[in-house]
Amino acid sequence: MKIGIDDIGLYVPEHFFPLHELAVRHDIDPNKYLVGIGQEFMAVPAPDEDIVSMAANATQPLLTDELRASISTVILATESGIDQSKSAGLFVHRMLGLKADCRVIEFKQACYGATAGLQMACALVRQRPNEKILLIASDIARYKQDSEGECTQGAGAIAMIIAKDPRILEIHPHQGKYSLDVMDFWRPNFASTAFVDGKLSIDIYMESLKHSWQNYRNDGGLALTDLSYLCFHQPFTKMAKKAFSVFETLEPVAAAALGESSYADSQIYGKAIGNCYTASLYIALLSLLENNAQDLSGKNIGLFSYGSGSVGEFFSGTVVKGYAKHSRKRFHANMLERRTQLEHAQYADWFYGDKHSDAETYQTPRISSASYRFAGTEGYRRLYEENTQQALRVA
Ligand code: HMG
Repeated sequence: MKIGIDDIGLYVPEHFFPLHELAVRHDIDPNKYLVGIGQEFMAVPAPDEDIVSMAANATQPLLTDELRASISTVILATESGIDQSKSAGLFVHRMLGLKADCRVIEFKQACYGATAGLQMACALVRQRPNEKILLIASDIARYKQDSEGECTQGAGAIAMIIAKDPRILEIHPHQGKYSLDVMDFWRPNFASTAFVDGKLSIDIYMESLKHSWQNYRNDGGLALTDLSYLCFHQPFTKMAKKAFSVFETLEPVAAAALGESSYADSQIYGKAIGNCYTASLYIALLSLLENNAQDLSGKNIGLFSYGSGSVGEFFSGTVVKGYAKHSRKRFHANMLERRTQLEHAQYADWFYGDKHSDAETYQTPRISSASYRFAGTEGYRRLYEENTQQALRVA
């Protein structure tokens, strides 16, 4: 049975902050961020957006009545959780009118969570082939202000439908996993921003890729020569180049044949969005599928998922013939093009001014014009609503 990604959609907040402005603020050469890190913009969520509203907004364009009736499980992967107990997907399940005969769970292992979700979703479909799984990755990457990590921030969500006879990407059964307990990046419960040992995190990422690749090959995975494209978890797009260098060391001849063009198109969306933790690898995949000028039907893609802490997994898939007919390329391109640039003060206020996170009751300002928004809290209960009113645009 063929199982894999049957549909995929992206949501990115309507505002962004350019990295060349961040370089001015940090009094450094903008090329450090633009070239050295490989980032142009970071997506910035408005105060009435969070991982739940982004998840609902990513999923809504995918839904039909028929699909609603066949979704048996919702898996929401995030490391920007809004509750220690209740899974964020339950809000999404209600907002999108999914059926009650459904299980809803949240997955966490840093940026790797969505890949764990993907593997569970494939296993569920193998067990019950008529059911479909809604897999969402939604995150806000947030580091201390003016820290080295700030240039790698971002926000966004990916929604995927996992089903038999998929229309986009058939996932292969081979899996190369690698787990190692290490403190390269973490966020204790009291903290709203991540702690990170940046250089260590890059080293462990590369080490994890090396072992995951070897384990994938030992599991019967394809040879590098049988892969046409590579998608890596991209906390910043330069990381894809660093990841590729692992193959240049391990398999120089096959890597030279693949070349930079095997991952270049996977960097396009990430450069404009920034790190989205769990969603980043799948944004890279979408970027490749929507920006590569060739017909990718039948091509094998290798994917590397990395979540600090750390878990890595290398897996692969084959692009399904006719995938381009189901593309939302124009919709996603418009979403990115129509974004509004923020001044530094506005960006900093939204990203770091989380003044109400422990307020019993408050209303968020109406800024987002997306279909769903976070309205605030009432008695510590989070409120979400359909966005029927005209929202304010930041000038
Ligand atoms: P840094 O120390 O400020 O940067 O932090 P740097 O000094 O290493 O410079 C970065 C690059 O810019 C270097 O290139 C410089 O040479 C270059 P490289 O040697 O790496 O190829 N550079 C310039 N290039 C052109 N013109 C110039 C110029 N100046 C310098 N003028 C760091 C960089 C990534 C460490 C920091 O941003 C950070 O800590 N980021 C957050 C952590 C991170 O993203 N880690 C990645 C691996 S871990 C991961 O992916 C998991 C994660 O997503 C979390 C999760 O799993 O949940 C983070």
